[in-house]
Amino acid sequence: MKTLLKITLITATLTLTNLYAETPYQPDIAKGAEVWADVCMRCHNLRQPADLSTRAWKYSMNHMRIRAGLTGEETQDILAFILQSKSDIDAK
Ligand code: HEC
Repeated sequence: MKTLLKITLITATLTLTNLYAETPYQPDIAKGAEVWADVCMRCHNLRQPADLSTRAWKYSMNHMRIRAGLTGEETQDILAFILQSKSDIDAK
């Protein structure tokens, strides 16, 4: 019985670990807004979300990621914030 319990626990742990590993990073929009306001005006005026198309933002964020030395997660957070703001604006 103890062995069965152990096997069950190990299987459950492995399954959870696997699920966690396969979950893509969920961007944090609030954090993206903070980093955007903090970092993206160091070198130039803030570009507003409406200034670029969604496609151009994705491209530009890869460009600015290198310029600003952002981590992958920061880049995704900022992009999520920009695209969210953009869709809010575009919806009006
Ligand atoms: C280290 C300085 C620096 C930082 C920090 C920076 N930029 Fe830039 N950015 C530039 C320069 C320089 C250009 C002009 C294009 C070029 O020659 O690279 C530019 C251009 C742009 C453009 C025009 C399109 C393009 O890709 O060239 C956008 C949009 C932009 N930046 C957005 C951002 C955002 C969003 C951030 C914050 C994540 C950011 N920038 C942070 C230096 C910076």
